[in-house]
Amino acid sequence: MYADNSTADGIRSSYDVRGGPLQATSSPIPRGATAALIAAMIGSMVRESRTTVAGRSMRYLDAGSGWPVVLIHAFPLNADMWRPQLDRVPDGWRFIAPDMRGFGPEPPANPRPVSLDDMASDVGILLDHLAIDTAVIGGLSMGGYITFALFNRAPERFTGMILADTKAKADTPEGLEGRRQTIALARAEGATAVANSMLPKVLGKTSSARRPEVVATVRAMIERSTTEGIVGAVEAMMARPDRTSDLPRISCPTLVIVGEEDVVTPVADAVAMQNQIARSRLVILPQAGHLSNLEVPDNFTLALGDFLSSNL
Ligand code: MLT
Repeated sequence: MYADNSTADGIRSSYDVRGGPLQATSSPIPRGATAALIAAMIGSMVRESRTTVAGRSMRYLDAGSGWPVVLIHAFPLNADMWRPQLDRVPDGWRFIAPDMRGFGPEPPANPRPVSLDDMASDVGILLDHLAIDTAVIGGLSMGGYITFALFNRAPERFTGMILADTKAKADTPEGLEGRRQTIALARAEGATAVANSMLPKVLGKTSSARRPEVVATVRAMIERSTTEGIVGAVEAMMARPDRTSDLPRISCPTLVIVGEEDVVTPVADAVAMQNQIARSRLVILPQAGHLSNLEVPDNFTLALGDFLSSNL
């Protein structure tokens, strides 16, 4: 399902198109198919690297080669959540997925306070390290909040933006109370208890009922997070400012994508953001909740590839 604010001349227009689930198209392999095409069909090779950022070791995954796309992970996951997309990088693109402070395998000690601005700064330093000036930059949920923080610091680095299952608004008083409870739970009982409490919310009803492998993957990723990483990120999210007034300043092509069953950052949040961003496209993914890229990876990847090939 698409709604698109983009026009060829960049003038804002708006229309709704509701269709069925996105479908991959298939076509016969042309005779004499190139090695690149065959490589694209069997999937990309995911590389795992480490570098030092702000005095800490940072792991990042990357795959493909060409124009860079940075994908920032959700809370309390890590760069591995982007493996379905890293496995299928479109030809001519390079996907880069860093671990944010406190997350990923063996996260280094992470003295608090940490802010989303610190995490955004880390992404900028990683790009410097990789000699990348500009990129399509985006993230899912907390990754979207970090994307907004990076845009605020360095809008010139964005050739495009991806806002997946995220929102521009700050936390409500009820949301802040929920965060305090998450901190208390993490401190008292650790990551497994946080996973138990979060799983029914972050996965859509279809995944919870019918996709046990997705439930297991997300649980394992949450359980890998440390209490310190969880508490640091929750405190950072609590302190984040409202970014709504920044939305009209986003002038690069932007993909707003959301699971139809997302109850954490629902479709209404995505629509509200898209209405404020001139060159934006909205994709609503059926049968997906908040972690849409993991719940319906093929359709998410297809929508991302379509955005990259048609807008950039
Ligand atoms: C996330 O997926 O990153 C979190 O659910 C974001 C949030 O709690 O606001």
